[in-house]
Amino acid sequence: MNKITEEIDAIRGKWGNKLLILGHHYQRDSVLAHADEIGDSLELARKAAEHSEAERIVFCGVRFMAESADILTSREQRVFMPDIGAGCPMARMADMPAMRKAWAVLGGADAGWLPVVYVNSSANVKACCGEFGGSCCTSSNATRVFEWVFSQGKRVFCLPDEHLGVNTAHDIGIADEQIIIYDPSKPFGGVHPETLKSARVVVWKGFCLVHTAFTTQQIAQVRSVIPQAKIIVHPEAPKSVVRLSDAHGSTSQIRKYVESSPDGSVIFVGTELNFVQRLAKNQAGRVMVKALSQSVCANMSKTNEQNLLSVLSDWPDANVVNIAKSVAEMAHKSLDAMLKL
Ligand code: 13P
Ligand code: SF4
Repeated sequence: MNKITEEIDAIRGKWGNKLLILGHHYQRDSVLAHADEIGDSLELARKAAEHSEAERIVFCGVRFMAESADILTSREQRVFMPDIGAGCPMARMADMPAMRKAWAVLGGADAGWLPVVYVNSSANVKACCGEFGGSCCTSSNATRVFEWVFSQGKRVFCLPDEHLGVNTAHDIGIADEQIIIYDPSKPFGGVHPETLKSARVVVWKGFCLVHTAFTTQQIAQVRSVIPQAKIIVHPEAPKSVVRLSDAHGSTSQIRKYVESSPDGSVIFVGTELNFVQRLAKNQAGRVMVKALSQSVCANMSKTNEQNLLSVLSDWPDANVVNIAKSVAEMAHKSLDAMLKL
């Protein structure tokens, strides 16, 4: 055991259950070795909300995840990040003023819209969603959230990920013609009022660079060399990739797919490399797991044992994630709507 590992263990021992370390699947192994809970975005949001005994929560992930933890916990519980600069570029592709503008272009609640905000978004965007009566979603429950909207006879305004929105709509049988892309860089989102009339889903033109790196050519290549191979990707991948794959799902759903596959399977996985390599290591000798292509989330990789130890030793104010009360209250509404479904 190295010295940093020993020091982290000693601090964790001292704090006991008053300290909670949460780690997303995309984190490196050396960081996850110290996590009390490991999971996908939904599971970690639930864990943060459940552990009311934890005075301090250290979130090893990216900023939107730590913000959700802060929103879902009491004001007394403090949330820290080992690297406060670990953000998610997709979450920055939508802000509150642009969301309000889009809401006005669509005609808002009067035109039957309800926002569905992917958790990979800022607290302000989640607050706006709460104000408009919508719900958050993650990649593991987006189908359920879309169905909740349709069960009220409403239409989905999904942001900020185009691909999660399009793939989820397709999963529940919405025709491509009824899905419209809203591009915030264009006047009126590039949306024609006539096509809006028959639209059931509007998706914001945001994306994740890590997942748009997966292509149909990579899939064709795998199928031509290993025809029996299975391919599973994250729903942040483009629709053309998702539709050619055997399955798609959140990080935890991908893990379950791999773990429940028959011995001897060959599985190509289209998501972040740290996670795929861990799956491959854990399954070695039973199932062969390969990366569809080597795609790394630079922000997830910012957290390491060194900055984890620093935050646990010094608890710097600069590493605290603290969402303003008024924003947190409205954002809580949209996260709570999701957690109740
Ligand atoms: P999950 O909710 O599947 O863990 O995904 C989070 C994420 O950021 C994927 O890029
Ligand atoms: Fe954001 Fe993509 Fe990284 Fe997920 S993988 S945290 S969506 S940049």
